[in-house]
Amino acid sequence: MGSRLRGFPYKTFPRGWYQVAWSHELAAGDVRPAKYFNLELVMYRSESGKVNILDAHCRHMGAHLGHGGKVCGEHIACPFHGWKWSAEGANVEVPYSRQKRVSAKLGRYPVIEKSGLVLMWYASDGRAPDYEPPIVPEFHDDAYYPVYPHGGIKGEANFPPQLLVENAVDVPHLKYVHNWTADEPGMGKFEDRGQSFYVETFGAIDTVKGIARLQTQIEIWGIGLVYSHLSGLRDMGFVSGMVPIDDLRSEVRLTTAVKRKAGDTGDEPDSFARAMIAAQAEEVIGMRAGGDRDIWEHMEYRANPALVREEVAGWLALRNFTAKFYDDEIKPPPVKETESAPTLAA
Ligand code: FES
Ligand SMILES: [Fe+2]
Repeated sequence: MGSRLRGFPYKTFPRGWYQVAWSHELAAGDVRPAKYFNLELVMYRSESGKVNILDAHCRHMGAHLGHGGKVCGEHIACPFHGWKWSAEGANVEVPYSRQKRVSAKLGRYPVIEKSGLVLMWYASDGRAPDYEPPIVPEFHDDAYYPVYPHGGIKGEANFPPQLLVENAVDVPHLKYVHNWTADEPGMGKFEDRGQSFYVETFGAIDTVKGIARLQTQIEIWGIGLVYSHLSGLRDMGFVSGMVPIDDLRSEVRLTTAVKRKAGDTGDEPDSFARAMIAAQAEEVIGMRAGGDRDIWEHMEYRANPALVREEVAGWLALRNFTAKFYDDEIKPPPVKETESAPTLAA
């Protein structure tokens, strides 16, 4: 067990869909090792084109299928003694034995591909998926530059995905961390929609061309996927995908599509669009002092934060939403407003 975020109340990894690759990274026949949720895994794209994720260590003698395993049709063959495993994790062939096959099975994890993202389902109790995230409209819209190969940025960070999700209702931080101007960042509506959480925020930033009014519409799918549409500069759709590697570390993938410059039909984002992609990545995973990531990697988690009146409704709704995805038996009590203190004499 590695280290954990101090004060974090959950012991299980949250249930849901997580981005583990971009579709274009895996060609038919590709095999790669992966580690998520403290599990050693193998990911492969079969000859027919389906991505599968299985437990990595062969049930025979324990070789790692992600290191030297080979795709055979829909199956994967172990590099050590050639046993073949199906996409369902069943043993389908022991090539040198009269026994032909054995009943031992590998764990398998559901995978779907949506809008160019490879998504893996995880549930600590092994339950099957009960929803699917929707497509990302901007990733299919010719009015936007294509995501591949300029709109995908990958990184690793030392905090759990919960913190990125919580950012959505944290309106005051937009001014202090992201330099939204004056005292006007605000939250429009927010809504727990069961499997997703919807938030609108608005505010303004100073640009070289003057004040730009920004609106973001955010849809959070489970704990692993945050889809946002930003308008006010140039329209942009982006997905922040975060998947736990272990109790502290996570892999982060940011996928961004920016609206084309008027009249531009090429596939290469213009300089303004590229700057927006880079700035977005910098805001989320850049290691800038006082940036989101710097704060998240050094904070201690408050399951019982001292909240002021304006903050309670958003945080209560969001924390109630996220709690549903953790299978822990003990969950933290609801957040509440902290009493005012008398004003200090000057
Ligand atoms: S360890 Fe995989 S076939 Fe022997
Ligand atoms: Fe932020």
